[in-house]
Amino acid sequence: MTSRLPGFHGKSVDERRQHLADAGVDLADLDGGITLADAAGMIENVVGRYALPLAVATNFTVDGVDALVPMAVEEPSIVAAASNAARMARAGGGFTTVVAPAIVTGQIQLVQLVDAGAAAARIEREAPALVARARALTPRLVARGGGPLAVTARMLADGGVDGGVVVVHVDVDCKDAMGANLVNTLCELLAPEVAALVDGVVGLRILTNLTDQRTVTVTCAVPLAALADARTDGAAVAAGVAAASRFAEHDRYRAATHNKGIMNGVDAVLVATGQDWRAVEAGAHAWAARDGRYAPLATWRVDGGHLSGRLELPLAVGTVGGALHVHRGARAALKLAGVSAAARLASLAGAAGLACNLAALRALATDGIQRGHMALHARAVARAAGAEGDQIDAVAAELVAAGDLRPATAAEVLAGLKGATLTASPQEPAP
Ligand code: MEV
Repeated sequence: MTSRLPGFHGKSVDERRQHLADAGVDLADLDGGITLADAAGMIENVVGRYALPLAVATNFTVDGVDALVPMAVEEPSIVAAASNAARMARAGGGFTTVVAPAIVTGQIQLVQLVDAGAAAARIEREAPALVARARALTPRLVARGGGPLAVTARMLADGGVDGGVVVVHVDVDCKDAMGANLVNTLCELLAPEVAALVDGVVGLRILTNLTDQRTVTVTCAVPLAALADARTDGAAVAAGVAAASRFAEHDRYRAATHNKGIMNGVDAVLVATGQDWRAVEAGAHAWAARDGRYAPLATWRVDGGHLSGRLELPLAVGTVGGALHVHRGARAALKLAGVSAAARLASLAGAAGLACNLAALRALATDGIQRGHMALHARAVARAAGAEGDQIDAVAAELVAAGDLRPATAAEVLAGLKGATLTASPQEPAP
């Protein structure tokens, strides 16, 4: 299905939904997500279901294939920003991604070791046997072509309160699963055997969310002409975006906000598709600080006739297991995006992140961010004042033109509009 849908944002919700229905998406699932009974089976003390707007971002082409990108988020402007930036990137062939194998690392902590250095060396010598044992403990994953691949050990302390401490890493290719459950289970099963090898005491057994082997790299090269608008030429926009990137590269305060803009896109896709977005957030920020200095996840440069962007971050996502077992809405969102493999989901989430970053930097480097926000906020104010259908855009346009977004002004504009409509059609029969 093409993601190029000019005018999609101007259609009614029903028209947009009809477009998806025509493409085979189950609208009831998309909207309903989970029943109360499903919810009660998912977490504790359930008293209801919490809703968020679900939208699709348009114009995305990722690795040469179009996708409508599902995004669930409460903040205005994000979906419009992602769609606009994706349109600009599309002029340069869209987004290209490299997704690393789905390796998630489990950690087994061993404490109270008499000689931690010797214990780590012993575990490393036994690594082939431990990998074989770990694979025997995960037969279904091994049958799917994944499974444990490596066992390594590192000394963390040579003595002190916890005695000698070693951390054992178990690298597992999780294929299409996010992997938390299976890696945690494996660590718990393997830990007593590893501890017995070195006469240690088992400490924590849990995956690390710094999944630094399971990264996605997203690049795009946007032709300068595609960045231009009526008031600013493309070269000036590109220079502004590259300068904004350098600002984030030099300053961690700016880098935090720069990365927040990226996670606006990444998280919205993760929430829509039922992923553990907290895990990805934790990994992304640990990754951003991996050199001991907090840095931007994405950078931009002007090269030749293009503005080139590059985003890299760990992205552990799954298309099997987790909330997807019960969440029909998340499954429908994956379907509408044409996603069956976890790698493709990582590509789309990463592309949404880079798109949101481009849109934010472009706005910040030109008009400032509030202008776009104001237009969307004006629509919300118009709707709250009672505007419906075409009235919403008409009232919003007047509010933006006047630079006055007060609810009372919206009510006045709406009343004026309704009055004008009535006087324009005096012959209309009473209903
Ligand atoms: C707001 O949600 C995100 C931005 O602050 C990102 C940025 O500053 O790059 C606009």
